[in-house]
Amino acid sequence: MSGAGAKPPDSAEPGTVWSVSIVVPPERVGLFEDALAALEGAVSSREIEEGRDWRVTLYLECPADAAAIDALLAAAAATSNIAPPRAEIGTIARTDWVAYVEERSPPLEADRFYIYGSHVRTPPPAHRVPIRIDAGMAFGSGSHETTRACLVAISRITDPGFVRCALDMGTGSGILAIAIAKRWAAARVIACDNDPVAVAVASENAIANAVGDRIETVVGDGYRTARVMAAAPYDVIAANILAGPLIEMAPAMAAMLAPGGVAILSGLLDDQADAVAAAHTAAGLAHADTIALGRWVVLELRRDRRT
Ligand SMILES: C[S@@+](CC[C@H](N)C(=O)[O-])C[C@H]1O[C@@H](n2cnc3c(N)ncnc32)[C@H](O)[C@@H]1O
Repeated sequence: MSGAGAKPPDSAEPGTVWSVSIVVPPERVGLFEDALAALEGAVSSREIEEGRDWRVTLYLECPADAAAIDALLAAAAATSNIAPPRAEIGTIARTDWVAYVEERSPPLEADRFYIYGSHVRTPPPAHRVPIRIDAGMAFGSGSHETTRACLVAISRITDPGFVRCALDMGTGSGILAIAIAKRWAAARVIACDNDPVAVAVASENAIANAVGDRIETVVGDGYRTARVMAAAPYDVIAANILAGPLIEMAPAMAAMLAPGGVAILSGLLDDQADAVAAAHTAAGLAHADTIALGRWVVLELRRDRRT
């Protein structure tokens, strides 16, 4: 391993994979995953110290350019006014890498859902709803608490029992849109992201999970996206973004929720939950439930049936 800025190994055995690894606090994982995903590689994250540190690793098939990585990390850090993390660059043999990723990507369960990668050979359990997602260029493998808590919330919604139209805002890999489409067999789901790469990944995942005909993927910036506005109102809206954008988007989101509709909001830490809930109650919704996984919190908000 060497620090970014140090020259990475420029010759290696055929089949070598380069790794770029940083350690960041939980609330910065999404920011730096998105930054590293700008390079042509696969990003994987895992918690290394509960509630404190996460390791975000980018795997590359070509030599890592330390200067470009430093620049990417610095640009991402500047958007949040923080110091950039120090990158460590290393190499690993491809055979080890495949085993490494598979070992760290076991199937996951989140209430009624079972999330697994295509490397998993054993059939999904019959009593779970399977979602096949491979770790890749978009956030949403199911390993992050923010995603898993949304899946738990989607599992637990019993009312409305019949969902015709749903929205997954900030769809990433499409995992929540797929969960909604599998949970409600008649639901049509708009899956929106402002990152075209994520939208392409979400489309592929929707097709791989046999719900591509009911998930419409859209590139757009939040609720001002024309297709998102045209398809409203929604019986269910899931949005796993960050606390700041959720607060900003609260009035627009609330306006698109159908009477009796449910919003699942994620990407916030426990000390941000009150502010996010307040922004939504001010927009006319009722705070119905809170689900916490570690320090990450999901809020369920509802629109009254008569409004
Ligand atoms: C934390 S990821 C969530 C991915 C997935 N829904 C999940 O739950 O795992 C947040 C996603 O929101 C997208 N995003 C951020 N701001 C957005 C905006 N204003 N409009 C649409 N998408 C946005 C990001 O590109 C990213 O893919």
